[in-house]
Amino acid sequence: MTATIVVNSVEAMRREVAGWRSQGFKVGLVPTMGALHPGHISLVEEARKYAQRVIVTIFVNPAQFGPSEDFGKYPRTLEADVEKLSEVSADLCFAPTVEEIYPKGFSTRVEMDGPARAELEDSFRPTHFSGVATIVAKLLNQAQADVAVFGEKDYQQLLVIKRLARDLDMTTKICGAPTLRETDGLAMSSRNVYLSAEERRIAPRLHAGLEETARRIKAGEALSPALESGRAALSEAGFAIDYFEVRHADTLARVKSAQDGPLRLLVAAKLGATRLIDNLAV
Ligand code: PAF
Repeated sequence: MTATIVVNSVEAMRREVAGWRSQGFKVGLVPTMGALHPGHISLVEEARKYAQRVIVTIFVNPAQFGPSEDFGKYPRTLEADVEKLSEVSADLCFAPTVEEIYPKGFSTRVEMDGPARAELEDSFRPTHFSGVATIVAKLLNQAQADVAVFGEKDYQQLLVIKRLARDLDMTTKICGAPTLRETDGLAMSSRNVYLSAEERRIAPRLHAGLEETARRIKAGEALSPALESGRAALSEAGFAIDYFEVRHADTLARVKSAQDGPLRLLVAAKLGATRLIDNLAV
């Protein structure tokens, strides 16, 4: 275990990175919004496969929250997060203030098409991906890492970030890492703490719904009825569905049949006041 160094300024992070580079180390970046759970830690471990030094950024990015979303109540647990990072010997935690990231006069926003306008998350959170693209572009520029790791849990986000890095000729390689799940199948998420005990009991049905739908498609059922059964099962369990869809796994384009694959199932649904998302390869 090595204590993780915490810095708040871009300058201090760059100084550390320059020192590592002069020693010939490769650098990995794991952008997060904190409230770290084992899923985040698995991203740090993934980054370690490519890099000798790993930076974890912790920044609850106001630009990616809509006006009625949970920016104010999003869990902020920096001290506990740094302890968890030290346990896995993450080398550096970059935890900037809002002013460090968006100083007075900040006037730039990255707008994207392609996977950012797939009519999935973007239909329900219209400004979300421009907020994500803006902060991720900044973090990639600030850290100049060799590799950056993002979870597949936010599947549309992962494709958006891959597109962003390619379109803007960024040199950092973007890697996805598999979703970590609780033993009952619920995808780990910082937002799971919002669930009441009863909602927590129901929440794993989201993943179960994806698995059952994937099973039906693989067994040869047509996409529409398979999706309809999945939606019905979730509604019956008490979810209010935003979307439950199957798309092309690489582009998020709509598909007509399993032959149009590789396929990815994607879902977002509310349980009470908590919105959960998940996805599964078919
Ligand atoms: O996935 C997240 O936690 C955030 O969207 C990210 C990528 C750190 C950008 O704020």
